[in-house]
Amino acid sequence: MNRVFLFVSISMGLVSTIFAGGKSAPAHEGYRLLLDRGYLPADFSQEVWENLWRVWGPEDRKKYEAASPAQKQAMKFERYGFQPRPNEPDSDRPLQYTRNDAGGWVMNCFTCHGGKVNGVVIPGAPNSHIALQTLIDDVRLSKLSMGNELTHMDVGSLMVPLGTTRGTTNAVIFGVALASFRDADLNYRPNSPPRPMIHHDLDAPAWWIVKRKSHLYADGFAPRSHRSLMQFLMVPENGPKQFADFEPDFQKIYDYIMSLEAPKYPFAINQSLAAEGEKVFGRNCAECHGTYGKEAEYPNRVVALDEIGTDPVRYRALGPLAYEFYDRSWFNRASTVPVNKSPEGYVAPPLDGIWASAPYLHNGSVPTLWHMLHSDRRPVVWKRSEDGYDQERVGLEVEEFSSVPSDVTAPVDRRYYYDTTRRSKSAAGHQFPDPLSEDQKRALLEYLKTL
Ligand code: HEC
Ligand code: HEC
Repeated sequence: MNRVFLFVSISMGLVSTIFAGGKSAPAHEGYRLLLDRGYLPADFSQEVWENLWRVWGPEDRKKYEAASPAQKQAMKFERYGFQPRPNEPDSDRPLQYTRNDAGGWVMNCFTCHGGKVNGVVIPGAPNSHIALQTLIDDVRLSKLSMGNELTHMDVGSLMVPLGTTRGTTNAVIFGVALASFRDADLNYRPNSPPRPMIHHDLDAPAWWIVKRKSHLYADGFAPRSHRSLMQFLMVPENGPKQFADFEPDFQKIYDYIMSLEAPKYPFAINQSLAAEGEKVFGRNCAECHGTYGKEAEYPNRVVALDEIGTDPVRYRALGPLAYEFYDRSWFNRASTVPVNKSPEGYVAPPLDGIWASAPYLHNGSVPTLWHMLHSDRRPVVWKRSEDGYDQERVGLEVEEFSSVPSDVTAPVDRRYYYDTTRRSKSAAGHQFPDPLSEDQKRALLEYLKTL
């Protein structure tokens, strides 16, 4: 089996290409592993996938029935925030799900870490469309009506919400929930006392910035390593043996992530204005966000919560228990770099390819870079278009609202609206650009396109 798999992955590697930085490069072995090898149990069968539309609302069902096969695929992909694989546009599997030996649908890292920007699919870009709650709710209903067995995911998601806004997920708390059933060697301990769970949704970081970081995650607690990537695999089916078996693959997946380059801004840039902006950036932003270009430096700086003033829930959701567990666990055992067990706030991320990772801030609450630079003009509620890109304000094309329209009541429809008044979703803080003049901000915005 493994040999067949290896053969497939090598031959695919020769013929396929991925889009990174706008140029084609041979697909990395780590990329093929993510698409071809499932590391988790399947969430649902092919049969469930084919019947999912039957649990949709009557209008959508009618449209679906009248659609061509290609349109049907596109409707399903759009509803769940999936995209076609860049080099296999005819595959029935999106970038976000892998096929296991039995044909089952297995979630992969691209569920959150592969998305489309300006309508172009970019593996490694945050999936700002993902609608995991909508997917698993439909899957659960569909299985119940078909008499299929429910999985841990279907049942667990009744207790742990998956994400209340499209494009964001409660991923950190999945990790906390899964880790609570493990000892330091990753043996499954089903009777462990439950850990406190503070649910909140995050926007996944872009993978092309990982290579500049010494420590990972919004608060920078975990030293960067291939094992840190494996936390997502802590389902009951995976024990110490599976973690050891999967480790060589994750070295390759890590190498793939470290090989990624930020994609280039695809529209025109006013170079002389950008050069002005670079100076503004150097004086006002570089101390935290680092420098770019030939002699780039990045300080890995953590900024205290009081000073940054952005939403505090993610910071408070982890604590000594989580940091201590990680420090003692198999995930960190091989690391020579210490865990930061008392981070003070949030990391100032590298801004490479920042044009392509909207929405902004760790919770994805700010739709464009212009809104990052104008803290008093950030929308209270916003809704993005599927593929529009706002070249004026640099980021998502959005409609703005003062509250969620009152006729939007069904949860599946509400998830299209980002409501910054809700807990963990605040768009406040990061007021460092406030003192700059409008001319300086215009130049800075132009410079940010070049990173
Ligand atoms: C359900 C969504 C989801 C899935 C699936 C997922 N991630 Fe993530 N990932 C996130 C979120 C959200 C964060 C930010 C967490 C934080 O800052 O606390 C993150 C953070 C990371 C980071 C750190 C990035 C940084 O800049 O600090 C890496 C690396 C990463 N994930 C790799 C992976 C790999 C590899 C997989 C598959 C094995 C995976 N992720 C699966 C949502 C996901
Ligand atoms: C004192 C340190 C500090 C300074 C100065 C600073 N920032 Fe930030 N910046 C941060 C931190 C910390 C975050 C992450 C906050 C969060 O996600 O809650 C951030 C986030 C951002 C983001 C969003 C990144 C993302 O991936 O979502 C952008 C864009 C940004 N800053 C631009 C700027 C610009 C432009 C300047 C200069 C005018 C600047 N920053 C000055 C600390 C700083």
